[in-house]
Amino acid sequence: MSKRISIAIDGPAAAGKSTVAKRVAENLEYVYIDTGAMYRALTLKAILRGADMDDPALIMDILDDTAIELLPGSEGQLVLLDGQEVTAEIRTAEVTNKVSYVAIHEEVRKEMVKRQQELAAKGGVVMDGRDIGTHVLPDAEVKVFLLASVDERAQRRHAENLQKGFPSDLEQLKQEIAQRDKIDSERKVSPLKKADDAVEIDTTSLSIQQVVDTIMKLATERIGLN
Ligand code: CDP
Ligand code: CDP
Repeated sequence: MSKRISIAIDGPAAAGKSTVAKRVAENLEYVYIDTGAMYRALTLKAILRGADMDDPALIMDILDDTAIELLPGSEGQLVLLDGQEVTAEIRTAEVTNKVSYVAIHEEVRKEMVKRQQELAAKGGVVMDGRDIGTHVLPDAEVKVFLLASVDERAQRRHAENLQKGFPSDLEQLKQEIAQRDKIDSERKVSPLKKADDAVEIDTTSLSIQQVVDTIMKLATERIGLN
């Protein structure tokens, strides 16, 4: 049997990471791990507790007492927070606008990286996030960094919101995405950054399938080598 490799997919908000990661995982019959969902679940719990996001000790206390599970579901990945399904709740605007302030804390990242490495220990994973190729899976056989212009990414989220029947303001989305990219890229601990050995793909004018095909080609080349 061929070796089950690890595939790291990083990039800024709404670059298409989770959409393509899910499809690549399905094609290879690998496990898909959405690390952003883990930071979002912790943020949701901190909001419900009325916690100050800028207090690392408090956020760490909450994390130490928190179980986050990612389970495959028939319509995508299910996210469980302390045993309760929160798949939709972690995508609200409030969580989205606060998550980067939770993800900035060094201790929080250390614990999250540990949990993510445990989930990926057996290989056969496609993991997406911001620091997968640089910190979580530095030895991943395939590393990809997805990019797209802010306008294109805001447009994609806008279309997605409208399709789901959610209220959506394109200009506001643009500002929120740019602000989150700035916090994620400028933080001291494991900022959003392309790993030196990652393949950069500018997806601005690519379809989802074209991005999936490019990653599948990289993956099958590596699997063939093992
Ligand atoms: O899907 P989207 O790109 O909007 O975001 P996400 O992947 O769900 O990640 C939400 C936030 O979690 C990011 O903006 C980062 O602040 C943080 N995050 C992180 O710091 N490191 C990761 N590996 C994944 C997410
Ligand atoms: O996970 P991330 O935040 O990077 O992005 P996503 O949630 O996978 O993708 C954001 C939206 O862009 C989704 O509605 C995708 O269907 C769409 N998309 C696209 O239109 N073209 C691509 N090449 C990739 C994603």
